[in-house]
Amino acid sequence: MNLLDGKYVSEKLKGEIAADAASYLAKSGRKPHLVAVLVGHDGGSETYVASKMRNCEAVGFKSGTVRFEDDVTEEELLAKVEELNADEDIDGIIVQLPLPKHIDPEKVTARIDYRKDVDGFQPINLGRMQRNLPSFIPATPYGITLMLKEYSIETAGKHCVVVGRSNIVGSPMSILMARNAQPGNCTVTMCHSRTPDIKKFTLDADILIVAIGKKNFITADMVKEGAVVIDVGMNREISASTKSGYKLYGDVDFENVAPKTSWITPVPGGVGLMTIIGLLKNTLASANGTVY
Ligand code: GUN
Repeated sequence: MNLLDGKYVSEKLKGEIAADAASYLAKSGRKPHLVAVLVGHDGGSETYVASKMRNCEAVGFKSGTVRFEDDVTEEELLAKVEELNADEDIDGIIVQLPLPKHIDPEKVTARIDYRKDVDGFQPINLGRMQRNLPSFIPATPYGITLMLKEYSIETAGKHCVVVGRSNIVGSPMSILMARNAQPGNCTVTMCHSRTPDIKKFTLDADILIVAIGKKNFITADMVKEGAVVIDVGMNREISASTKSGYKLYGDVDFENVAPKTSWITPVPGGVGLMTIIGLLKNTLASANGTVY
């Protein structure tokens, strides 16, 4: 078993991004600029947005957070997105999900200018990604491809099973792994909550990518000997033993699954750290004008 080390890879790529940001500053006189919109006080969202902002500053980007209380109206939120769209000093806009129940996330994310959609959630970015055209690629799937690349994991011709069909991870991940690209060229199976007997598919996976949001969902009896296992799970549980008061669990029973694998990501210290790299690379690409 070998570890796909998110800490090592993300630190290395952050160094490269910082160097690129410095060149961009020297050339243009400005920094790449990311703005996050955060609604309410969801613990996970607070943590993720704070981490995104911290990382932006660390690589020499400008960043900002626009905060709203839970009772913000959809109209107010849409008006703010329009304002950020029109601001020429902003390269990337993200609206952190989930949003409160009275706000339609599709409507809000659809209002972001696709040229600033560094989350890659817009249908135009998804469509362009599927066609192998320049686009913003959703940050978590993008980060996973960067990790596979870093460790030179061969994917062509392999059976990749993606568990989960979310717009943020499972769905774009399955498109990326099927594309005629490296990494990619896989035969892809997507499993989800309505798939009977998920084990039948996971047992045949050469590459297993799990984003279902359930602690220890994947057990050792579901994994083929020698598989590559990517755990996207970020299941937060209250814990008195950690500084933050929370402990993070993946979707994979790491302790029992790891010995069967050729490569596996830990949680924490795996995919989570790569997500931010995807976001930073999209923001830099937006500033450089290499996508649009
Ligand atoms: N919530 C969980 N993951 C993400 C993400 O990648 N982007 C946004 N905007 N919200 C999220």
